[in-house]
Amino acid sequence: MNRLEVESAFDVLVKARALERAGRSVIHLEIGEPDFGTPLNIVEAGKRALDEGWTHYGPPQGLLELREVIARHVSRTHAIDVGPQHVSVVPGGKPIIFFPMLALLEPGDEVLYPDPGFPIYRSMIQFLGARPVAIPLLEEDGFSFDLDFLRKAIGPRTRMLILNSPQNPTGGVIPELQIREIAEIVRDRDLVVLSDEIYSRIYYTSEPPFSIASIPGMLEKTIILDGFSKAYAMTGWRLGYGIMPEWLVDAVNKLMVNSNSCAATFTQKAAMEALTGPQTDVENMVAEFRRRRDAFCAALKEIPGFRCTVPGGAFYAFANVSKTGQSSGDLADFLLQEAGVACLDGASFGQHGEGYLRFSYANSIENLMEATRRIKTVL
Ligand SMILES: Cc1ncc(COP(=O)(O)O)c(C=O)c1O
Repeated sequence: MNRLEVESAFDVLVKARALERAGRSVIHLEIGEPDFGTPLNIVEAGKRALDEGWTHYGPPQGLLELREVIARHVSRTHAIDVGPQHVSVVPGGKPIIFFPMLALLEPGDEVLYPDPGFPIYRSMIQFLGARPVAIPLLEEDGFSFDLDFLRKAIGPRTRMLILNSPQNPTGGVIPELQIREIAEIVRDRDLVVLSDEIYSRIYYTSEPPFSIASIPGMLEKTIILDGFSKAYAMTGWRLGYGIMPEWLVDAVNKLMVNSNSCAATFTQKAAMEALTGPQTDVENMVAEFRRRRDAFCAALKEIPGFRCTVPGGAFYAFANVSKTGQSSGDLADFLLQEAGVACLDGASFGQHGEGYLRFSYANSIENLMEATRRIKTVL
């Protein structure tokens, strides 16, 4: 248990709530979820499913009709050919990190993962006795992989490579050219790529983020992680999915039977409406995130000692604060205590995150502007 880590976002949220209970005003820029409600057509579909009696166990792999919808969606968005037999429906995106790693990793295996990156990757790798090998992300390249480092880090024990684009915590999007280079590096290796695409719908680049699974020959060694939490503001519904080779689907099925039995069935019915119904709410949400991103990054840059690369996706700004002369951990604490602005220390996403703060801009423009005013004042 000591090898498992937690997410600092939840810890900071607890601290911030304690301050609020003591009468302080806190602007929450720590937690990574859309501030929008789930689109109403999806909520209605969920209610309808409950009324229709979708309150029983379902198949461990997920309802066939949902898996068909997901397979069509992924085939279209990735220009690949996947069927329902390649889809595992699970409670949230996280199990697609947990289960394939449980299935694939042996003690001593190596996993290459982005640093700074989603803390659960390293936590799970360590938990399984495998060795986490951090690949630094470079701010000067829009926070994409240091490819030279990747080439050197890959070895005979490398079992898995984790990609995450658009990325948490940096908001970086790995350019197609780089993904193609990564594919060439790993193509002939006996390893699996975990492509975490949970933010795939939230991007501000002209083209959608490119997936390594779209490159001929890569699908058979790639797990695509995606879900409904971020794109459809459904974090509390707990529904995600993985696209993977059938042999790995079998393993995930076994782990589902032993842990969850299945994802909630009425939630799966609602998810069908999410993928097949109108997409205007998603488009409006992303347009609003873009407006906030532009305003917030511009305001962050005005704070002495702060620098901010404008992110290409997700809803995070990863501000470089190294010029403030304080460690990012001390600064995050100071801003919470003195300014009532909750944000996350970049170092909680890995050692290469030191000197950065992660701000989630899933909050109103007014709150975002007030947060930057408060930070300026206390600094
Ligand atoms: C990069 C990344 N992957 C996966 C997840 C997990 O998503 P879910 O809430 O659907 O389990 C998150 C959530 O914050 C994330 O940031």
